[in-house]
Amino acid sequence: MARIGIFDSGLGGLTVVKEIKKKYPEVQIIYLGDTARVPYGTRSPETIIKFSLECARFLVDKGIGKLIIACNTASAYAYEEIKKIVKIPVLEMISYGAAGTVGYKKIGVIGTRATIKSGIYEREIKKINPGATVTSVAAPLFVPLVEEGEVAGELIEMAIKKSLEELKEVEALVLGCTHYPVLAPVIQKLLPGVKLINPAEELARGLDVKNGAVKRGEDEYCFTDMTERYTQTAEMFLGGKIEGKAERVSI
Ligand code: DGL
Repeated sequence: MARIGIFDSGLGGLTVVKEIKKKYPEVQIIYLGDTARVPYGTRSPETIIKFSLECARFLVDKGIGKLIIACNTASAYAYEEIKKIVKIPVLEMISYGAAGTVGYKKIGVIGTRATIKSGIYEREIKKINPGATVTSVAAPLFVPLVEEGEVAGELIEMAIKKSLEELKEVEALVLGCTHYPVLAPVIQKLLPGVKLINPAEELARGLDVKNGAVKRGEDEYCFTDMTERYTQTAEMFLGGKIEGKAERVSI
């Protein structure tokens, strides 16, 4: 199988790469982070779809065998549109996050404003977990705080406490945004006993990499913008160094 193409609105999607590499270190990937236009989660559906289609086209033109929409916001709005223009298998985050809720009845979901407004997590969860009650909360403050490296300490705890007030009663919480898995330890501290569901972990578990085991070359990491701080932020999401070629691209 040709390498797997993975795109996100920025660097957060590297939390998805991290889970895939943990499970399948031998798989060859090409990552696209639209860092010049991040965030997507505050934008209109039309813009999210337009940007996502551009990302998908860029990766398809690179000759990939499978496309993963690592961004929850792009998954919420652009999956159906991308499927129309792409002839290879396309995976998105929402169905994997929803699948992780099976066995729990009181479910919480956090995501960007756009993801929560779409209502897609709630619909997908109820489809495969009928009888579940779903409380969805937009947590827009988390993205800029995480990007600033605020992943522990007073500031992020205050933001989390404020956002999670409505979620105290849930049994399981879907971390419905690429940035949230890095906050899992502090969220868990504030919501002890709540099962945290990371859609990236669920996707990696369900990923079919048949014939993809042989690495024929370097991984490639493409970004539409690269600032001085990008390496530091990328490593925070990836949980280690970028191994492979990193380059700036125009899409
Ligand atoms: N990648 C986005 C998501 O998973 C978060 C950042 C953004 O708003 O673009 O929803």
